[in-house]
Amino acid sequence: MIDASNAIRCADDAAIAAAAEALREGDLVAFPTETVYGLGADATNERAVARIFEAKGRPHFNPLIVHVPGLAEAERIAVLDDRAHRLARRFWPGALTLVLPRRDDAGLSKLVSAGLDTVAVRVPAHPLAEKLLTAVGRPIAAPSANRSGAVSPTRAVHVAGSLPSPEAGGPAIILDSGPCAIGLESTVVDLSGADAALLRPGGIAVEEIEAEIGALAGGGDDDTAPKSPGMMSRHYAPATPLRLDAAAAGPGEALVGFGPTAPADAAANLSPTGDLLEAAANLFEILHRLDAEAHASIAVMPVPYEGLGLAINDRLERAARR
Ligand code: TXA
Ligand code: MG
Repeated sequence: MIDASNAIRCADDAAIAAAAEALREGDLVAFPTETVYGLGADATNERAVARIFEAKGRPHFNPLIVHVPGLAEAERIAVLDDRAHRLARRFWPGALTLVLPRRDDAGLSKLVSAGLDTVAVRVPAHPLAEKLLTAVGRPIAAPSANRSGAVSPTRAVHVAGSLPSPEAGGPAIILDSGPCAIGLESTVVDLSGADAALLRPGGIAVEEIEAEIGALAGGGDDDTAPKSPGMMSRHYAPATPLRLDAAAAGPGEALVGFGPTAPADAAANLSPTGDLLEAAANLFEILHRLDAEAHASIAVMPVPYEGLGLAINDRLERAARR
């Protein structure tokens, strides 16, 4: 099987129940929204979120949108201010994603925010997506359900043609409910700072959003801010300097190992068995923990440049360069 066509299921109640169960078990499920098909994973399961990057073949970790069935569930994972409430009342459910401060007690994966202290939240306006999210009872991370660099899928067959089969790390189930109504990703607005900013134009017009909360940086009349889609997302970097390709820890350094050959007294090991999926799932957790311990520096042993190792190395290199 070269693609995921064998995973397509007509989205009846039995398929939705099976998909909810698969998500709770940490598997991937592709599902329709009103914008595009999403590749979903349990946003509270670090390993499940790492699977998304593996299946998409993304060479870097960017933060993902977390989908919830309604405002109440959004409030459980993020902090909504007045602006957020105004936009949520007007556009949710719908093609608007809000970047908001994360709640510490939400149990969200760190990888889902790529280590940032914010989270992107959306309530999709699709009856099937809503049913699925309600059935799972957990927030679901979902980027568009295509290989990295390919066009976003608006039909189940696009998903199947783009992603690997279930056996090869692709979605266990692709819920088919026909073409997406909008066919374009959601508009992403950053409300985590004092000035609201447009991060990605999309399914809801910027003018409509500005009519609710005023001018957006990067929006309509603002030619100073960058407008490229997704390019404004900040990157998490630890305050502690990072040294890569380390063979051993120097004085005052915390050693981060990878694989079975790492010293047993290393401060952390991304994956003792050398499993890149596990390493991706542990990466931000380990960086945050060691950063808080205030070492002189963090020394990281080599991670292979293959599969998820590309995204792991990209992240480490950015953190080291800074
Ligand atoms: O329509 C959509 O939004 C689709 C469907 C499946 O819901 N989803 C989607 O997700 O396009 P994704 O993960 O591919 O889009 C994420 C966008 C990127 O531009 C990313 O940089 C931005 O949202 N983003 C996510 N979390 C962020 C954060 N914490 N801070 C800044 N930008 C963030
Ligand atoms: Mg995409």
